[in-house]
Amino acid sequence: MKWGTRVICIVVLSMTSVSGAAEDGNSTPLELFNQRILPIFRSEQPSSCVQCHLSSVDLKDYILPSSEQTFVSLRDQGLIDMAAPADSGILKLIRMGDRDPDAGSRLIHEEMRKAELAAFEAWVAACCADRQLRELPRLAPEQLAGPAAADAVIRHARKSRVVDSFVRNVWSQRMRCFPCHTPHEIDVENPLHQAALKTQSKFREELSEELYGRLQIFRKTPEETLQYLIERSAAAPQGHLPMLNLTDATQSLLVRKPLAKIPEKDAAGKLLIPAEGDATVHMGGLKMHPDDQSYKSIIAWIQDYAKVVQGEYTAVEQLPQDNWRPTGLVVRLMEVPEDWSAEQPVQLFVHGRNAEGNGWAVEPLAFTQGTITPRRIVNGTLFLLGEQQRDSHAAYAAGDGKAATALLPPGDYQIRVFVDRHGVLAKDPAAMLTAGDHVGSAVLSKARWREGFKFAETVNAGKLE
Ligand code: HEC
Ligand code: HEC
Repeated sequence: MKWGTRVICIVVLSMTSVSGAAEDGNSTPLELFNQRILPIFRSEQPSSCVQCHLSSVDLKDYILPSSEQTFVSLRDQGLIDMAAPADSGILKLIRMGDRDPDAGSRLIHEEMRKAELAAFEAWVAACCADRQLRELPRLAPEQLAGPAAADAVIRHARKSRVVDSFVRNVWSQRMRCFPCHTPHEIDVENPLHQAALKTQSKFREELSEELYGRLQIFRKTPEETLQYLIERSAAAPQGHLPMLNLTDATQSLLVRKPLAKIPEKDAAGKLLIPAEGDATVHMGGLKMHPDDQSYKSIIAWIQDYAKVVQGEYTAVEQLPQDNWRPTGLVVRLMEVPEDWSAEQPVQLFVHGRNAEGNGWAVEPLAFTQGTITPRRIVNGTLFLLGEQQRDSHAAYAAGDGKAATALLPPGDYQIRVFVDRHGVLAKDPAAMLTAGDHVGSAVLSKARWREGFKFAETVNAGKLE
């Protein structure tokens, strides 16, 4: 709450003289404001805007302590249509929730939305009918009430943007957790999935119902999965790592578990089941490497999500690019020199030809990241680096990343190699390495860009210049 009750009382008292005159049988703007708008302003509950905006904007932001000031502030921002009060912009903003394609979400916020709408409709209509109010002088720009954050920040904190980013950065990596945590990806008819089916039924037989339930991390849809991760994080008992750790993304159970080794066996040779929340062992064993491309994208998403829900973004410059799009295309660097340490993650960037056709473009088209394997290889699936994709959720769902392939046509490319020699990624796992860590570049000729590790596009570290 921005204003104390004391301030509100004073302003309200001094106001009565302005629009105290009631038309017979009707409430005055002031009465409506005090009875119906102020309670919204004072409520601890977020307004119905939270249906789509996780932070950065709330209906309360538009309300000032007095009816008169609130009206003038909305009027001066073009959010009041004096000729047709029912079409006023502020009402349209409240009605946005009706247009949410997510029916469940529409329903959850319906009651709140209807109450807000009825209150604002009545109050706006009464204000517009009041000549004195209509003709009040304009407020100075700094007196106008609205969200403090820039539009770009508000858009970034939208739920649909967060879900879209989740699809690209987390949901896209789920097959690394197949089949144990992805029951909906198993196709009973597929002969290649018979082993997966066996694994699942073994879990169902051997694990407690509770633990078997906890294995169902990736649900049928990204939305349900995200909902589950959020709820389970909120329910994490004291001392347990939450699924998504908002204070330190690297300490999220979702990434710690697949980085952990398989537990010891008991006397009968059965794996000892880890205590709930114990991230030092994982019955699924090592399924991810610190600083591989999945680790990076999952951490980047959790960090961004944490900042959104905690309202930490205030300026446009703080917003991450959020332009990674997953693909199944693989780039591989072979014969990595012995003097590159396995502890130092490597980033590989794909550059196309420049517009002049006489060299390579400055901006990369795609990247991947990984650590050096015992066979002196670095490889990983590519993330395309595009414009921020507003509707890539739909595009991705339609083609499961295949549409992305079209953006890398067959041909010659340059691979630029960066080695994290200064511990940049230990401090900021989502970071991109910069010129100081560039160790060389090589031409990748006649790349065909087919999906899967079997068809990796390969360059030899010996060719780096
Ligand atoms: C059904 C979803 C939904 C609801 C509910 C919703 N908004 Fe929005 N809002 C959006 C979308 C979508 C955008 C971004 C439009 C874009 O990216 O161009 C947006 C953007 C905004 C912006 C930034 C300016 C702009 O036009 O991009 C403001 C301010 C805003 N909304 C205010 C509100 C307020 C206040 C409420 C509650 C009274 C609200 N919204 C409720 C979907 C919603
Ligand atoms: C071969 C099967 C298998 C694979 C593959 C696997 N896991 Fe697991 N995972 C398990 C089992 C069994 C448990 C339950 C026992 C435990 O906590 O280790 C578990 C537990 C977890 C938990 C704790 C769940 C909870 O609510 O307590 C998380 C988080 C997790 N895994 C994440 C992952 C991620 C992410 C991946 C993929 C990158 C992955 N696992 C791959 C078998 C697997």
